[in-house]
This record gives sequence, C-alpha cells and structure tokens, in this order.
Amino acid sequence: MLGSLKLVLYLAIIYVCKATEEDVLELTDSDFSTVIAQHDTALVMFYAPWCGHCKRIKPEYAVAAGVLKDDDPPVALAKVDCTEAGKSTCEKFSVSGYPTLKIFRKGELSQEYNGPRESNGIVKFMRAQVGPSSKELTTLASYEAWLAKDEVVVIGYFEKDSELKSEFLKNADKMREEITFGHTSAEEVLKKAGFKDNVVLYRPKRLSNKFEDSSVVYNGEGSLKAFIKENYHGLVGVRQKETLADFTSPLVVAYYDLDWTKNPKGTNYWRNRVLKVAKELPEVTFAVSDKDDFVHELNDYGIDFARGDKPVVAGKDIEGNKFVMSAEFSIENIIAFTKDLLDGKLEPFIKSEPVPEKNDGPVKVAVGKNFKELVTDSGRDALVEFYAPWCGHCQKLTPIWEELGEKLKDEEVDIVKIDATTNDWPKSLYEVSGFPTIYWKPKDSSKKPVRYNGGRALEDFIKYVADNASSDLKGFDRKGAKKDEL
Ligand SMILES: *[C@@H]1O[C@H](CO)[C@@H](O)[C@H](O)[C@H]1NC(C)=O
Repeated sequence: MLGSLKLVLYLAIIYVCKATEEDVLELTDSDFSTVIAQHDTALVMFYAPWCGHCKRIKPEYAVAAGVLKDDDPPVALAKVDCTEAGKSTCEKFSVSGYPTLKIFRKGELSQEYNGPRESNGIVKFMRAQVGPSSKELTTLASYEAWLAKDEVVVIGYFEKDSELKSEFLKNADKMREEITFGHTSAEEVLKKAGFKDNVVLYRPKRLSNKFEDSSVVYNGEGSLKAFIKENYHGLVGVRQKETLADFTSPLVVAYYDLDWTKNPKGTNYWRNRVLKVAKELPEVTFAVSDKDDFVHELNDYGIDFARGDKPVVAGKDIEGNKFVMSAEFSIENIIAFTKDLLDGKLEPFIKSEPVPEKNDGPVKVAVGKNFKELVTDSGRDALVEFYAPWCGHCQKLTPIWEELGEKLKDEEVDIVKIDATTNDWPKSLYEVSGFPTIYWKPKDSSKKPVRYNGGRALEDFIKYVADNASSDLKGFDRKGAKKDEL
C-alpha cells in the first residue's frame, strides 16, 4: 500500500518535472530566428550540456518558464545548445561562456541578462522587463489572481489620486525587480477589501502561521520602502543567496531541507518552531535556510554535513563571530543558545588550519587560530596576503613574497600569508574580494588596515613598506633605496 503510494508520488514528481521542462523552448540554428521573432519578450539561455552551472540553473529555469509563459504579458524562455544544433547561433551572438543569458524583444537582441539564477528571481526580474512596474487590477478577478500568488505581494488601494499613490508608484518603479506590486481603483475591489487609500503587504500563503498576520497594512509611519523592507521576510524569513543582505546580525539560522513543493508540512513544522522562538526574542533576526543551498556556509561553520533529520542551528553576533548550537534542535535549546550568544557566553567557531609549530621562515603563516596573536595584536607592522591555493596570480606572487620576507627579515615588519579558503580572519576589517588581496596592517592598533593596490613587483612592495613603516627601516631609506648603497 505504502509502496504504491510512493510510486504514485514518484510518477507525479516526474510528471511535474517533465511538464515544466517542456515549457522551455529548445531552439536550433534552423528555427532560432523564426521562433524568437514570434515572442514580444524572450529570455534565451546559451548552454553547453557538460557545464555544471548550466545543469544547476536548468531546473530553476524550467520552473520560471512554466510561470512566465502564462503571465500577462507572457515571457518565453528558450535555450540553445552551443555544442550541437545551435553552434552558429551562439557564434552569431558572441557567446563565450556558459551559460550566457540574453533578453530578446520581437526577435532582436535587447540586452544581457544579469539577474538572479533561481526560479523566483528569474520570474521577478523578467516580469520587471515587461509591462508596468505595478499592475493595475481593474476587476475583482484580476485582483484575486494577484492575491493568489504564493509570494510577497504589495497592493495599493486608491479611491482617487493621493500622495500615497504617487509614493507607491515611485517605490514600485524602484523595487520592481524584487517585489510584485499591484494597485487598484476599481470600486468592486475597494469595496471587497474595505480600503480607500492604503497599501497592504501580503505574505506568501505557504508561509502562513499563527505567530504573525498574513497581511500588514502600512500605517504611514516611516517611509513606504522601509515598511516593505521591514515586513518582507516576516518573523522568520526564508534566507536565500539573493537576500543575504536583508538578514542582519545578531542572526540565528536553522538549516534543513526546505521544500514547499514536495514537503510543505515538514518544511513548515520546523519553521513554526523557530517562529515560536522568534516571537520570544524580538531583538534577534531569525531565519531558515536550505541546507543544500548553503553547504558552503555550513562548511564555514565547520559542519561538513547536516546530521540526521533535525535542523542544524547556527548564528552570528554583531561582530560577526560564528556560533554553532551543539544541543539537539528544540525550542528550549534554541532559546538558551540564542540568549548565550547575546550574552557573549559562547565559544566562537573559528575556521582554521592547524597552527604551524614553527613559524620562523621569511613569510609568517597565519591561520584562523593564530591571526589575532600573529597579526592583530602583534604590535608590529605587517603586510598580509590573503590567497587561494588554486589562484594563478597568487602562485606568481609566492616567490616574490618569499624574497620580500627575506629582504625585510631584520625589520620591524612582518610579511604574512593566509590561505583564505581554509581559515577565518576578522572579516569586518579585511574585506577580501578576489585573490590575492593584500592589506597593510599598521603597528598602531588604533589605525585600520589599508588595502594595498600597488604593483606586484618586489620593488613596489619595498617602496610601499619603506614609505609606510611606523619607524624607519634599517636597510632602506623612506624612498625604498638600499641604505648601504647610498
Ligand atoms: C603608503 O600608503 C599609502 C596609503 O595606502 C599609499 O597611498 C602610498 O602610495 C604608500 N606609499 C608608497 C610609496 O607606495
């Protein structure tokens, strides 16, 4: 009995996948121009079957295609295989990496697509490319269809033109790529809703719960934008890669399998528990995240895999220190963990390679666990390289760094390197984007580290250090010339 139920479910899932996959138009060199010309707006993905990023975006793309083809106005989603049947089309549009996404209008290339790569994001982004930023809902039916969307929807009710209305339309223009807006002046709608000059934010139905209202009315306090931002995620937001910045510290996140399509009950079961905690501790941001989408982040917390069925809970304090709840998932344990986090009672997790036993080479090796001692609190100047083992520019720098360390070994300056892929460091002080990233850390701890943007030749580094060192170097003058050569 259970077996056959499983089979039915399994078939149903296959059916859903197949159905949506079919919504993506597969185009070739022979039909590309004719088919694309038939659509007012089309998004085209140029891909290669072997490319990993393409495989990852594929299911998201298919879901978005299913939604957007029935939209008003509709948007077609198509794909072209650049290795086989679509080779010359890809050449024609100078496709050089995979996947490349481009927007076409009435058959003409319009612009590159630089939007999100998950289904919801693709839908919102493409919707924003067509039609007005807020849809005018002129009938009860169109209004109800807008409300039935399982996403955050902001609706403006305006009996007549008003200050609020122009404010609403202005915000819709600015936020159209992230949020779905609608507005109405239709009498039947206003009567049904009971609003005359109001803006209301509706939360997705699948997230409805007994701890917060499913809609919030803007009361005119603060800006409309702030109101939307504040209420968008609710008490316990679904934290995704696209919305990371919305979730400020102190932050506590439950990581588990989030799946509102196949397992809505289970997914809400855990979230409801976090909601209960959030209700009690309003000073903390709470969220849930999908454990597969956030494997990297979990690794950063020292968690290689999420054990068992219960969510893993981890968090950050305002300084960015990371904490992992060691106790099992339960309301009481999360409350205790969060309170301890706020009170500074927990030992932070620091990602680190083992501290090197000997560290007396020309280049000092920093790791997560010795960074404070070796760099932050060393009481010496330091030039610190953040590198990744696989990065070519870093490898090129390695011998120069060694030589620099050698030349400065008798000076009050440390030449340091840290593998940024396997260690933590104070991220608020050293922002690392791209490798290698180099920082000058002055001896005086009241001065902030400064990013080094100069050349990468030995002389460039020596000149920089000689000029910026807290006290004169022994071997070089302030201009970086060797003293014994003077
Ligand atoms: C010393 O540091 C400052 C600040 O980073 C920089 O602008 C300057 O170029 C440095 N001196 C040399 C010679 O590179």
